Amino acid sequence: THDHEAVRHELAVWFAAGHRPLPWRGAEVTPWGVLVSEIMLQQTPVSRVEPRWRVWLTRWPTPADLAAAPVDEVLRAWDRLGYPRRALRLRDAAAAIVARHDGQVPDDEAALLALPGIGRYTAAAVLAFAFGRRSLVLDVNIRRVLARIETGVEHPPPHETAAERNRAWDWVPDGDAEAALWSASAMELGAVVCTARAPRCEACPVARHCAWLAAGRPEWGGAPRVAQA
Ligand code: ADE
Ligand code: SF4
Repeated sequence: THDHEAVRHELAVWFAAGHRPLPWRGAEVTPWGVLVSEIMLQQTPVSRVEPRWRVWLTRWPTPADLAAAPVDEVLRAWDRLGYPRRALRLRDAAAAIVARHDGQVPDDEAALLALPGIGRYTAAAVLAFAFGRRSLVLDVNIRRVLARIETGVEHPPPHETAAERNRAWDWVPDGDAEAALWSASAMELGAVVCTARAPRCEACPVARHCAWLAAGRPEWGGAPRVAQA
């Protein structure tokens, strides 16, 4: 069994001591800024998103601004972020936010999921990071961290399973702010320490809780401690 509380606390202390100063984490960032960041980050690394996000938010600081922008300008501003359909869907989402929610990003999961281009992950991330609300943020980084700490395997299964989501919910603490902090800190660990190819266990704040490390970091294919299906 795992001491979820201890892992969460140690991760939170580590996160507070020096997470990356990503611009969409600032106190002044709007829910719209968070939503734009999550769409951009879906298929593009942080380093390439950062400058584009700044330009985008300066140019279209609200959903109404983007909804009114010409499509060709939107595509040009998306530039080389890749998968440019995301830019068009983001503009459609902005239009829907204006039409249905008076121009305010909704703080409701069902309303977020009903927007173009917003899936389960993005809705959960916006709830957590824009509104500080309890949700299950399960991106590839958090899935990998939990696979290693809890399941004792190097990588999560290729597709999310119901059992995996249930186990991940057990890690989400009860309070809204605590839940959002858990998601942010677990995501950060996966992004900067517990990486897919070169995990730096010697620098990991939760190494003593990690089942995969304790097992000698068996290669992908090793027997899981907890059934994955
Ligand atoms: N990847 C997806 N969402 C992210 C976020 N909010 N911060 C850093 N990386 C992310
Ligand atoms: Fe990841 Fe290594 Fe930390 Fe385990 S000890 S969570 S594998 S970085």
